[in-house]
Amino acid sequence: AQRRAFRDSVHASQEPTTPPQRRPRPEPTEPRAGEPFRNAADTDPAVAESRAWAAELLVRDVPAPDAVRITTVQDVDDAVARAEAVRERWATTAPADRARVLRRAALHLEHARGDLVATMVQEAGKTVAEADPEVSEAVDFARYYADRAEELADGAVPGAVFRPRGVTVVTPPWNFPVAIPVGSVLAALAAGSPVLVKPAPPTPRCVQVAMAAVQRAMDELDVPRDVLQVVLSPEGDVGRRLVTHPSVARVLLTGSIETAELFASWRADLEVLAETSGKNAIVVTPSADVDLAVADVVRSAFGHAGQKCSAASLLILVGSAGTSDRLRRQLADAVTSLRVGPATDLATTVGPLTEPASGKLLHALTTLDAGERWLVQPRRLDDEGRLWTPGVKHGVAPGSAFHTTEVFGPVLGVLRVATLDEAIEVQNAVAFGLTGGLHSLDEDEIATWLDRVEVGNAYVNRHITGAIVQRQPFGGWKASVVGPGAKAGGPHYVAQLGDWADAPDVP
Ligand code: SER
Repeated sequence: AQRRAFRDSVHASQEPTTPPQRRPRPEPTEPRAGEPFRNAADTDPAVAESRAWAAELLVRDVPAPDAVRITTVQDVDDAVARAEAVRERWATTAPADRARVLRRAALHLEHARGDLVATMVQEAGKTVAEADPEVSEAVDFARYYADRAEELADGAVPGAVFRPRGVTVVTPPWNFPVAIPVGSVLAALAAGSPVLVKPAPPTPRCVQVAMAAVQRAMDELDVPRDVLQVVLSPEGDVGRRLVTHPSVARVLLTGSIETAELFASWRADLEVLAETSGKNAIVVTPSADVDLAVADVVRSAFGHAGQKCSAASLLILVGSAGTSDRLRRQLADAVTSLRVGPATDLATTVGPLTEPASGKLLHALTTLDAGERWLVQPRRLDDEGRLWTPGVKHGVAPGSAFHTTEVFGPVLGVLRVATLDEAIEVQNAVAFGLTGGLHSLDEDEIATWLDRVEVGNAYVNRHITGAIVQRQPFGGWKASVVGPGAKAGGPHYVAQLGDWADAPDVP
């Protein structure tokens, strides 16, 4: 009953956005005599009508909650001072009470699901199919890290005590603009540190709407507001001050390796924990189930238009898999049947890029290097350069630019090798080691691959994106990680965010 009362009060305390009124449903009509058979999904006016209604729900105005607007270095110093002022109080809040805040935040995130999905669709170009599970992941992080917070209580680990580290800055990416900031922020809060979160420039509203849910939980449980501040700051000197301020103990970064290096160059003693880039491959051997392999490759390569650090960018075909007409044809058919369009259209399977293609990605979408040819050539569908049909390059050469460079978009490169050994060599011959996949029904091949592949997340006969909290803790190896590298959504992520000391002797 208490829980229901709380849920009702959550409803009452929110200011829901008003969904549009549903229009009258059009009358279905019978096909005319002699008309060829057409599927209902393509012809029924009610289908078009419900899609249009859903689209209106997705484009409705979601108010942007409060954030701290920072324009000067002094504003940064003030925000850090506010965090510093509540540091001790939050650090000495019992881990079980910190856990309560996270559990209540999970409920508020659930209640904000519609607003979060709409904001991701509008601001990041995510499809509903990508945005909705992202809300679930955020909720999972909240509940899972609440459990981990309780493991930090004095006495929970015999002989050791946990001490929070201090003011933490979170700099999340724009490609998972809800789940990753929520996960990083709540992990730091669970570990007893006050947080300043600075959204990635393309997706501030996603972070503001998500953090408003967390702040509602904090307000209800009397946690001072300054324990979590959303700071909207420009890049340059002001942004730099945020990570170089001497009272900032640590930065949790999810972004490019270049950003991690930049932060390190700004302040030698800064502790950065980062999940960075990937150049991920799926290996398919002749023993694989081709239907499953093709479906998983397409999902891994083109979900969210390939803009995931975990995305498959390379397909390595072993032996006869590389000469199989069936595999090649199925891959080309699957890729050309993806429907590219605005994320507000429910029929869209590949939405727009968050920002127009440029640099390495534009090069990869428009240029072939030596030996390469298009199995499916990408096409630009808009003037801005955000809407691209996905492309597949055949004949990518080991050691070439496409083999080793992360491009972060809807292009897949295919390499052909003679043996599984060679495939593993090619897969490991990149600086990064984030995700990797194998499609094989041969137990010896699976064992060999698992033993030798150099990635943080190795998936067998599964797509290689969309790690699930607790089931597939997510993190990298080699240049994909900076810091101790405990995985997000795994048992040690929160515990690594503080210091463990010997417990004082009990007299
Ligand atoms: N956790 C995401 C995935 O597994 C990437 O950040 O796809």
